[in-house]
Amino acid sequence: MTNAQSTKLDAAHFDGKARQWDENPLFRERGLKIAEAIRQAVPLHQDMNALDYGCGTGLLSFPLRDALGTIVMADSSGGMLEVVAGKIAAQGVTNMTPMKLDLMVDPPPAQRFDLIVTAMTLHHVPDTDHILRIFHDLLKPGGYLCIADLDKEDGSFHGPEVDVHHGFDQADLSLRAAQAGFADLHVQTVFSIAKEHASGTRDYPVFLMTARRPGA
Ligand SMILES: C[S@@+](CC[C@H](N)C(=O)[O-])C[C@H]1O[C@@H](n2cnc3c(N)ncnc32)[C@H](O)[C@@H]1O
Repeated sequence: MTNAQSTKLDAAHFDGKARQWDENPLFRERGLKIAEAIRQAVPLHQDMNALDYGCGTGLLSFPLRDALGTIVMADSSGGMLEVVAGKIAAQGVTNMTPMKLDLMVDPPPAQRFDLIVTAMTLHHVPDTDHILRIFHDLLKPGGYLCIADLDKEDGSFHGPEVDVHHGFDQADLSLRAAQAGFADLHVQTVFSIAKEHASGTRDYPVFLMTARRPGA
């Protein structure tokens, strides 16, 4: 991912975006569409403990919260978590807990989860295989993993100077998830992001991969 001129979109970058994040209608619609697809794909119930990794301002998990027991809202950006905490307080939500967490450097929480959801975050995590193994370990046997992210693209989504994964090939990510121990893999397209470029509008499809830790 790295080259001499590359820019990392680190926690400070997302801190600076957090207050305005929910003003973007595309981000809100994306969260709703991914949440809708998760509801269709996974038998959610109110005994489930969930982890939303890279939760941002919670645009994925707020639409899911009535269907779940508890949700740990994890992100490496303190700014994003401040927005989440403000929304939790303003809406009187009792089942969501913000947690500052970067699983690339921090020890994983001791808790085990029935469901891990992560939207548009995997492409920011350098070591995909490592994070998939951590997700596997954080799930209870039978637990579900839901990853929403960009399909493989040419780098034009963020621009060539930005040091992120250029989306994911669905078959390659499925193979990596299987190698990390996941089963029951399904991938579907759930949204598409239209971006204006000098050459015209381009569409960037967003997939949802669902998988299960075997053993329930
Ligand atoms: C593109 S935003 C998506 C936010 C939210 N999931 C959504 O769909 O609106 C990516 C989020 O991942 C977080 N993030 C990036 N790298 C991370 C890491 N290593 N650990 C935890 N969070 C991370 C960022 O702070 C940011 O909130």
